[in-house]
Amino acid sequence: MNKLMIALLCGFGLVALAGAGVYFASEAVLRDVSYDAPFDHPIPTDAASIERGRYIARTRGCFGCHGQQLQGMNFDEQWDWPARAIAPNLARYAREHDIAALEAAIRQGISAEGRAMLSMPSFNFARLSDADLADLIAFLRSAPMIDLDLPSPRLGWSVRWELLTVPNLHVEDWADHVPELTHDHQRKPALARGEYLAMTTCNECHGLDLRGDTLIMGTPDLAIVRAIDRDTFETIIRTGRGLGDRHLGLMSLVAPDRFSEMTEQDVDDLYHFLSTLGTEPAMQDVFWRP
Ligand code: HEC
Ligand code: HEC
Repeated sequence: MNKLMIALLCGFGLVALAGAGVYFASEAVLRDVSYDAPFDHPIPTDAASIERGRYIARTRGCFGCHGQQLQGMNFDEQWDWPARAIAPNLARYAREHDIAALEAAIRQGISAEGRAMLSMPSFNFARLSDADLADLIAFLRSAPMIDLDLPSPRLGWSVRWELLTVPNLHVEDWADHVPELTHDHQRKPALARGEYLAMTTCNECHGLDLRGDTLIMGTPDLAIVRAIDRDTFETIIRTGRGLGDRHLGLMSLVAPDRFSEMTEQDVDDLYHFLSTLGTEPAMQDVFWRP
């Protein structure tokens, strides 16, 4: 063997070794998850609960990402950053997995394989109540199953590298940072309902505490709602068009699918709660507002 071949072989060996290092180290980051107590709640079977579950799925965006018939979706063309994100068929998934696995995926951001997820916005569902989650599961299990061939998900090398170099990259980390709900249902029912709605719909994009996300989304602090009247607010969230009919990027895409169906009561509660947001200073030193 001449020197050139030896050098080439050593080169390939080193690249393979570095690749294996990044692969196994990033897998370790994805598997470094901590589970809450397994979800254990009766799953209702009556029509009203299943309808409530459908309303939750609609207003929380499950249809937008998992398909209008929950058949699953390939995000190959929309998002190139993870290499290939596949939102699974939820009607099938809900029947094939137990409720603890469903809860871990939906509220904690942990897949059935025990890995942190990267694209599923579980931090937005972290504060979903047990009763709403049970209704949601009841709905998913009752939905007709449509078969669609989906490719396997794949993670690119750039994401694997980022997992090693960027803190708080995956959704299990994010879900851990969602602030607790503060309003009491007995003493301030309208505020508590509004807070619950905002903290399970708007904080996907407006910061985990609703006070703006300057890291990824470039979204405003929702304390601005105080300066908007009730009817204009309703138009903005139902249509996703801002003041002066401004296009609001992602919000314009998701609002007609998610929020146009909100009940008047929900809009009232949301408006009532968001109008009080600016009375407290926003949290400092949080990673979504560096
Ligand atoms: C912004 C898009 C988006 C929204 C909204 C969304 N999902 Fe997902 N979901 C995904 C993607 C993408 C995956 C695949 C895992 C990943 O890439 O993070 C996923 C994965 C899942 C999984 C599978 C976890 C596993 O074991 O692999 C479940 C269950 C799930 N989603 C349920 C839901 C439910 C229920 C809702 C509504 C409350 C919802 N998702 C809303 C994008 C979304
Ligand atoms: C999928 C992401 C996403 C979700 C979910 C979302 N928003 Fe937005 N929102 C945005 C973006 C992006 C903008 C515009 C940022 C910009 O260009 O100034 C925006 C802007 C706004 C504005 C300012 C409108 C204007 O005229 O400037 C309001 C008010 C608002 N959102 C309220 C809400 C409320 C209330 C919710 C929850 C019911 C919500 N948003 C959920 C992404 C989102």
